Amino acid sequence: MIESPIGVFDSGIGGLSVLQALQTELPHEHFVYWADSGHAPYGEKGELFVRQRSLAITQHLIEKHHIKALVVACNTATAAAIHELRTRYPQLPLVGVEPALKPAAALSQTGHIGVIATRGTVASDKFARLLDSVEGQAQFTVQACNGLALAIEQSTLPQHADEAQQRITELLAQYTSAMGTFGTGPGQMDTLVLGCTHYVFVENQLRALLGTDVQLVSTGNAVARQTRRLLEAAGLLHSSPAPMSAAQRMSLFTTGDLHGLQAAAKRWLGLPPGSCHKAPPQV
Ligand code: DGL
Repeated sequence: MIESPIGVFDSGIGGLSVLQALQTELPHEHFVYWADSGHAPYGEKGELFVRQRSLAITQHLIEKHHIKALVVACNTATAAAIHELRTRYPQLPLVGVEPALKPAAALSQTGHIGVIATRGTVASDKFARLLDSVEGQAQFTVQACNGLALAIEQSTLPQHADEAQQRITELLAQYTSAMGTFGTGPGQMDTLVLGCTHYVFVENQLRALLGTDVQLVSTGNAVARQTRRLLEAAGLLHSSPAPMSAAQRMSLFTTGDLHGLQAAAKRWLGLPPGSCHKAPPQV
């Protein structure tokens, strides 16, 4: 079991931002990454659909890849399905992601924090409970960003890249200006929580838009550390002495366009095209 891979899934390429952190934190582990790009965007599909997809993917990763742990590298899927996954697979070490509201509250000097996430995450009960849990620690301005994750997915496809970049620029400007004023002055938002794993890939555009004084908070590193802790506790941590190359340790699958995943995996993880495969159609 120690030799088995860790499963990681997202609605698409967003979870690669979490996989980046995981491979740095856990250099001896193997990973199977599942990009459900053929069914993205989860954030605009409804909770039941996302839960069904999460269950089908998890079952496949367990049965065909014999994963020893699972990272749900998607805020929307975590909100919709983590409870059900924990109930169905009580023995499986399981890590989800949620918008980093508590770390942001600890970082903010102005006490005003912006949060961007998908509509599914923002509308979920889980997010409502998370907001309640930080009540009084800071003021949170929350914005659902319809269309943004999809534009980020499409930006990896050569035939749509220019149009998608243009759309990303427009959506970021539209959503951040609707939230209010960012900056370090009194009452301004000095911290922005990236509550969707896709949004990490537009950090540079966000910095250009909001200024470098605004802190961007994402969850990849915390998720990677939590995964290590759970593996250790379960006695499942792989600790071979010589770290392997990223390409030796990773197999990636997509239900969408293979070239899109290959382009994203090369760009964000330096992986060769042969690491990426088309997912079997029955999942
Ligand atoms: N990457 C996902 C998240 O963290 C969702 C993107 C989507 O809407 O598919 O919420």
